[in-house]
Amino acid sequence: MHRLQPESVLPGNGAAELFTWAARDAAAAGESLLPQPGFADYQRALACWSGSTVPLELPLESTSPCPAPFPDAFGQAAVAWITNPHNPTGQLWSRASLEPLLNRFALVICDEAFLPLVPQGEAQSLIPLVENHPNLVVIRSLTKLYGIAGLRLGYAVAQPERLQRWAHWRDPWPVNAVASAIAQELLCSPQRFEDWCARVQRWVAREGAWLKRELEALPRITPMPSAANYLLIRGEQDGRPLSLQPLREALEIRHRILLRDCRSFEGLDETWLRIGYQSRRGNRRIIRALRQELLGHPR
Ligand SMILES: Cc1ncc(COP(=O)(O)O)c(C=O)c1O
Repeated sequence: MHRLQPESVLPGNGAAELFTWAARDAAAAGESLLPQPGFADYQRALACWSGSTVPLELPLESTSPCPAPFPDAFGQAAVAWITNPHNPTGQLWSRASLEPLLNRFALVICDEAFLPLVPQGEAQSLIPLVENHPNLVVIRSLTKLYGIAGLRLGYAVAQPERLQRWAHWRDPWPVNAVASAIAQELLCSPQRFEDWCARVQRWVAREGAWLKRELEALPRITPMPSAANYLLIRGEQDGRPLSLQPLREALEIRHRILLRDCRSFEGLDETWLRIGYQSRRGNRRIIRALRQELLGHPR
């Protein structure tokens, strides 16, 4: 699929397991720069090795182009952790802006868990740069692309020496036989994989545009632009931040719909929620429920 030697790919028990080993290398290299708000699992992985971190505040304004340049990373950190597209904002970073980081940092760890879902996303992947950059690790997950979180399947792409080192550290049999058999079934044909990605990307483009338009028509919430299969929304009333917790609870209790509470993302508070795309039927149900709560009527 990626036109790589098998030695450059290490399957793992989900991306999460591979973050643990990437974090061991990161902690040994020095301080880790963590974009914020960001995915909390990198902190968990770094804490295993007492790795120190420094935050990189990401702008949350809604005008950036897609793909956007990665913000200029100042400071003395040795390691950069990138999420492309970013979670929770859905911001897609351009490969052109990420490539110079390879000369600046001792280690660059790029989490591309959501990239195969993004229309034209593969053009921004760092996987083609692994061959010439021993300080680059790219981590992928099958969790998002196939909706198989519980199966635990991901893989790291890096130069073979690094992956061989990781293989000596980990528990034996990190990918179980059921996950392994399903991975072979899903990934046995590059054509089948490409067809699946194309189908998923059409869904993301179609439902993302529809959902954003519908959300923009509602009062007190503003959706941020997103390249991924989720939208971050901000609560606002009379120009001031508005807690969305009452709305989240009403949706849960009255409509049996769970929107993602964003308080676990460092730097986000109760004024933010994230909505994951569903089928059109599911998305209509979310919008109907939001209309009812925000406007007091379903239409
Ligand atoms: C940005 C990001 N990377 C990786 C993962 C985890 O992937 P996996 O299920 O393969 O451990 C998640 C899960 O939420 C995620 O949001």
